[in-house]
Amino acid sequence: MPFDKDEILPAVQALYDALDPHKLKDLDHAIARWKGKPTALLQVMHVAQELFTWLPEGALERISRGLDLPRAQVYGFATFYDHFYTDGPARNTLRICQSISCYLRGAPDLIAAARKELGIKPGEITQDGRVRFECVSCLGQCDGGPSVSINDEPQHEVTPDKLRKLIRDLK
Ligand code: FES
Repeated sequence: MPFDKDEILPAVQALYDALDPHKLKDLDHAIARWKGKPTALLQVMHVAQELFTWLPEGALERISRGLDLPRAQVYGFATFYDHFYTDGPARNTLRICQSISCYLRGAPDLIAAARKELGIKPGEITQDGRVRFECVSCLGQCDGGPSVSINDEPQHEVTPDKLRKLIRDLK
């Protein structure tokens, strides 16, 4: 069993100890389920991010050891894809679509409103960890643009005023 406490360095154990043990157990289940399959890394990475809302170092270490993949490969994978977050945690994620259809329907005004309301740029997290703010390509809800998602909940025909209210309501 690759997760035997006696087999790992104290520094690695400290990374694991920083994580919720129940979530770590769920991650271990995902690792066991996908290990050896061609898309294992992608699938397990998605599970990890779903569990922790980002990819903490302890989770990446666990994935590397659990799937028997070099740490560099796992970390490289996590940092290559925009969809995976190696910074965090953030309690909420705000995404604003900036693809052409939403752009023409007012996405730039939403981006400006979010920047002002949050005091951060796209790609950043507020200092208190309340909101991660991202500008993304099509959210798949083009008919209702400009489109936004908050914690993966779609919001349609969003105006700057509506967006400000949504942001203020986030805990
Ligand atoms: S273009 Fe914005 S959701 Fe598709």
